[in-house]
Amino acid sequence: MICNRISLLCSSFMAIAIGVAVSIAVAQPTAPLAAKPPMGWNSWNHFAEKVDDADVRATADALVASGMRDAGYIYVNIDDTWEGQRDAAGNIHANSKFPDMKALGDYVHSKGLKFGIYSSPGPKTCAGYEGSYGHEEQDANTYAAWGVDFLKYDLCGLRDVMGMRNPPFDRIKAAAMMKDAYAKMHQALVKTGRPIVYSICQYGMDSVWEWGAQVGGNLWRTTGDISDSFRSMALIGFSQAGLEKYAGPGHWNDPDMLEIGNGGMSADEYRTQMSLWAILAAPLLAGNDLSKMDETTKSILMNEEVVAVDQDAMGVQGFRLGPPQVWVRQLSGGAKALAIFNYVTDDVPQPVTVAFKDLGFVGPVHGKDLWTHKDLGVLRDSFTATPPKGGVVMLRLWQ
Ligand code: GLA
Repeated sequence: MICNRISLLCSSFMAIAIGVAVSIAVAQPTAPLAAKPPMGWNSWNHFAEKVDDADVRATADALVASGMRDAGYIYVNIDDTWEGQRDAAGNIHANSKFPDMKALGDYVHSKGLKFGIYSSPGPKTCAGYEGSYGHEEQDANTYAAWGVDFLKYDLCGLRDVMGMRNPPFDRIKAAAMMKDAYAKMHQALVKTGRPIVYSICQYGMDSVWEWGAQVGGNLWRTTGDISDSFRSMALIGFSQAGLEKYAGPGHWNDPDMLEIGNGGMSADEYRTQMSLWAILAAPLLAGNDLSKMDETTKSILMNEEVVAVDQDAMGVQGFRLGPPQVWVRQLSGGAKALAIFNYVTDDVPQPVTVAFKDLGFVGPVHGKDLWTHKDLGVLRDSFTATPPKGGVVMLRLWQ
């Protein structure tokens, strides 16, 4: 676990163990996995069970052609429904939608992208396909042979094994079984020797943020599934207040994937998702059809200043300063991101004033509006914004 998550530390341990190679091992630390919140795309929100090889290739092409890859979106993650049958030796094979996973992984890699896949610690996945229960090492080895760089591991079928569907059940025993199952796959991934980002998905059960990193998670879902509506997105996003202390480089809270571009929300509401996820240091996994993006969708997903907030090197998750939905995130170099949301969706938007002393600034500050891209010059004492219905005003502030 330590070797996977903190490679420098791992190098040092190994160096001490092998004595003579100390200087070589210490001199070549590798980057820790998920030092910044992972960015990329996942098939589920748009394609769901219909995703196939051609969709994934078209997505890889679109990531490059649209500029998304260069904006940081590098993971191409296939969600549930790729799984086929196991052979007599127990090896998992993809179903007929994915004729050659190794070739698909090679294609994704040839575009300068990374390849992600999905499984469950249970016998069955959420969509009823084959899970990894009892085949953890074997599956991890198969993924490594296919060139997989990211695994989303989704509880689903394990709930039956845990006895959750036949109450009353032993909560403590069930929680221990779940943690063991996540740790088991983590160990199997580490054993492959391939760096594979490990995404825990169990909808926030048993306060996963308190133990997700201990079982090797680089990210963990904190809630149930998002859908393409303002209500769902806002309920999930704004409920993250208080989880900030659990996130940091290598281990992130995951409020689920982006819905931007899927059509169920207004542009202002999608700007709210992008801004809030950036303040939350959340993984940015686009969930739309990238081969059919309009200019508004592109301008939201590829707002490089908002992406820069999400990817800030300090890796400190933002917090809610106060109602009505004023959020702040500490950034490198003493800067801060400020987002003022209109969550209550007043038909007549109300002005909200934030005093700079409440953000920890003493004296005048410089401001830039990250959605209008206007430099606001030097600001004194406070800032007042009137975000549109369902929308946001987001600034970068520095002294
Ligand atoms: C669960 C997960 C979703 C998706 C589906 C696939 O509902 O939370 O993100 O992976 O399963 O079946």
